[in-house]
Amino acid sequence: MKPFRFLVLCLAFLTGVKGNDNPVTCDPNVHIVGGTLTKSNGNEVNSVLKFECPDTQYPFPVSSAKCSKSGHWFRSFHRNITPTCKAFRCPVPVLEDGMFLPVNNSYEINETITFECYDAYELHGSVSRICMKNGRWNGTTTVCNSGSQHCPHPGIPPGGRKSGTSYGIGDKVEYACNGGLVLVGSSKRECLESKEWTGSEPNCQHKSSFDSPEEVAAAFTASFTNLLGMTRTGDAKNSDTTARKIILSKDAPLHVYILLDASESVGEEYFSEAKNVAENLIDKIASFDVWPRFGVISYASDPVVIANLYDDNESSADDAIGLLRKATYEIHGDGRGTNIYAALKKVFETMVLTKVQFKDSWDKIRFVTVLFTDGKANMGGNPKAAVQDIKDFVNAQNKSEDYLDMYAFGVSDDVYMPELNDLASQKPNERHCFKIQNTSELVKSFDAILDFTTIGDLCGVADETPDAAGRNQYPWHTLVEMVGTGKCRGSIVSPSWVMTAAHCLTDGKNEVDINMISVNVGIKNKSFKVKQKHLHPLFDLGAMLSENINQFYDYDVALLELTKPINFSETNSRSICLPCTRETTRAIRRKFPGTSCKDHELEMLPTPGPVQADFVRHVGLVESMVPVTIKTSEGQRKACEANALQAPEYKNVSHVHLVVTDRFLCTGGHEPVVEKVSCKGDSGGALFIQKKRRYIQVGVLSWGVINSCDNVALKEKYARDFHINLFKVLPWLKMIIGKIITFIN
Ligand SMILES: *[C@@H]1O[C@H](CO)[C@@H](O)[C@H](O)[C@H]1NC(C)=O
Ligand SMILES: *[C@@H]1O[C@H](CO)[C@@H](O)[C@H](O)[C@H]1NC(C)=O
Ligand SMILES: *[C@@H]1O[C@H](CO)[C@@H](O)[C@H](O)[C@H]1NC(C)=O
Ligand SMILES: *[C@@H]1O[C@H](CO)[C@@H](O)[C@H](O)[C@H]1NC(C)=O
Ligand SMILES: *[C@@H]1O[C@H](CO)[C@@H](O)[C@H](O)[C@H]1NC(C)=O
Ligand SMILES: *[C@@H]1O[C@H](CO)[C@@H](O)[C@H](O)[C@H]1NC(C)=O
Ligand SMILES: *[C@@H]1O[C@H](CO)[C@@H](O)[C@H](O)[C@H]1NC(C)=O
Ligand SMILES: *[C@@H]1O[C@H](CO)[C@@H](O)[C@H](O)[C@H]1NC(C)=O
Ligand SMILES: *[C@@H]1O[C@H](CO)[C@@H](O)[C@H](O)[C@H]1NC(C)=O
Repeated sequence: MKPFRFLVLCLAFLTGVKGNDNPVTCDPNVHIVGGTLTKSNGNEVNSVLKFECPDTQYPFPVSSAKCSKSGHWFRSFHRNITPTCKAFRCPVPVLEDGMFLPVNNSYEINETITFECYDAYELHGSVSRICMKNGRWNGTTTVCNSGSQHCPHPGIPPGGRKSGTSYGIGDKVEYACNGGLVLVGSSKRECLESKEWTGSEPNCQHKSSFDSPEEVAAAFTASFTNLLGMTRTGDAKNSDTTARKIILSKDAPLHVYILLDASESVGEEYFSEAKNVAENLIDKIASFDVWPRFGVISYASDPVVIANLYDDNESSADDAIGLLRKATYEIHGDGRGTNIYAALKKVFETMVLTKVQFKDSWDKIRFVTVLFTDGKANMGGNPKAAVQDIKDFVNAQNKSEDYLDMYAFGVSDDVYMPELNDLASQKPNERHCFKIQNTSELVKSFDAILDFTTIGDLCGVADETPDAAGRNQYPWHTLVEMVGTGKCRGSIVSPSWVMTAAHCLTDGKNEVDINMISVNVGIKNKSFKVKQKHLHPLFDLGAMLSENINQFYDYDVALLELTKPINFSETNSRSICLPCTRETTRAIRRKFPGTSCKDHELEMLPTPGPVQADFVRHVGLVESMVPVTIKTSEGQRKACEANALQAPEYKNVSHVHLVVTDRFLCTGGHEPVVEKVSCKGDSGGALFIQKKRRYIQVGVLSWGVINSCDNVALKEKYARDFHINLFKVLPWLKMIIGKIITFIN
């Protein structure tokens, strides 16, 4: 060893001498026409030069260069070309058995092209496409299909070519892209018996083009909701995506591995942004109707496990997020290579371990990997081999492709798409591989993904963006109108069921005829009729007449069954979550099974409070969400309840507990802050709290001490509201809607 080391030192010494004699530097005057540049280390050897161009342009002939030992920024074949920012142009489409207009050898941004198929051929994909600012056509590849072969025509991407013209079972087609374009998607596809092609649609992209945050969000959301087996409401942008064959059932286990790049080139700042993006992703996935476990790995020369998927104390969304927040860029020390292979190998090893640990649910587990990288793997072997290990392992378990989704996000211009493409899944009509310009674009992309206000039918979800207003903030809120006699409010608890106050439906002697009830939902105030009403059997307005109490509101709760279910997407409405249900257990991210109704109560109505809550108030025609606090500590609750005797109807009542039973929650007053109180007609509305971005109803507004809700009421310390506590009427709720909503014990 010694002599060898000596030799190395000698060589270093020699080159050092040579360097001092004749210092090599690169041309300091290099520039780019129409753009800007940055250099990592001035004009020294190995300094890296990066060109930047405006949004709709790319640097030509190269986007980056390194100062070579011979003192040149560019390789010989680029030396005579002045670096210039060139506008992206879209490649020429290829359409067999049809035509398109206009015809040209490339197209400018904003140019539109329209397609037509010859007689007897049917057009699939986009009829017209517009050239987007990143040099890609919007929409999907246009195909003319005759229907005469087993599989449909597989299409040819603009800027590409196809070999193979037979589309029978087992026939293959191959794709390549024209010069300067790189292929993303599957380069080979095979016609299956099911009349589908294997893999995903190929695309030919300009090597310098990026996915916009909108494209990333739309494509990732489409693929991920497909994986979750969910329907998208609102403006479903990619409604033509085919659904997966195997639908993820509610409660299905989902194992999500997130891999973060911490190599030298990403730097500390990127790493911390990537952590935020990962947290955002975990938070969103955990909001859906699945039971995910998370594994988080950061990698540089070596992988470091931040949250271990097979540890119960690390793999829940909250635990993984906690661990992720604590992880620092420093954990990788000086080993700052980009070893994607080792990171994926770690995923593979964890998967093998989980097979032992989760053998009971093994058949149902779906795997998702989300890889973030800023460039090429530069050590540790070809990551493709580790991907193959993972694929082989999942296949060997007799799991279909539907059980594994591998997403790859490349952030920066250094990302080479064909390489990244190999690390992602290829599935029909879905995208798993993305190239994003910089971290701020990555953050934007993830802010826009998996917007659960437009996905699925989760309870207790509301639009919380800053410009959300009215019913979008509380989409479960309804008007319950007793035509000709009065108005109350209610809350949607399932598509066919609305909860309200029992006193709205009776005057103590006669109950309202169901034909006279109309329930109005959503921002368009769509009206529904009622099929059945269920007042709590213990509700009896006149039960205390012998005590000279004319109105007694214990058990003031009722459920209405509608004649037809509310279409949530059509009416822009949704259900609110109810306590002690399975769905709410999931919403608050507690274990199922393993979480009791008592756990829900401790979490939602903790003592000592006060507990932050809201209800919806109506002042004239103006409807708004109003914050209040529920008094849960004994002292505050007693003070709150004592004010019940200030109500005009209760002036002669000898003891407050004659009118305020254990079933009530108390809000309002001046402690700890001055709170607004309900108005006439607010009765029946929900008192709700928020947990993990989800809303859960804990009470039904029954009555208030003061018969007004204006500023006069604000001045009165004894202005209080009383709500029926849903935790106290669970057996009845279970009896009426237990078949529709799963309650826990
Ligand atoms: C092709 O595009 C160029 C540049 O946009 C344009 O000048 C030319 O007229 C087009 N040719 C045809 C045939 O439309
Ligand atoms: C394309 O059209 C949009 C909207 O019409 C416009 O804002 C943009 O400047 C156009 N881009 C180019 C490169 O012509
Ligand atoms: C492509 O863009 C045009 C213009 O913005 C739009 O009208 C069209 O619907 C888009 N097509 C698809 C498939 O998104
Ligand atoms: C989780 O439990 C494992 C042992 O099963 C332990 O090694 C690990 O440190 C724990 N992690 C945390 C974050 O407490
Ligand atoms: C997969 O299925 C084949 C044939 O049905 C069976 O022989 C094999 O044991 C199965 N493998 C596993 C891991 O379940
Ligand atoms: C990231 O890219 C976008 C889109 O080109 C650009 O507008 C933005 O300034 C870039 N941000 C940074 C921090 O470079
Ligand atoms: C909703 O419609 C009902 C009648 O169906 C009406 O009484 C009520 O005022 C309407 N509410 C709003 C907010 O438009
Ligand atoms: C619900 O409404 C949406 C949007 O109007 C519609 O596409 C869908 O078919 C409706 N669903 C049902 C079950 O009626
Ligand atoms: C309270 O008692 C007085 C005197 O008996 C009676 O006049 C009044 O009507 C009672 N008020 C109520 C609300 O019952």
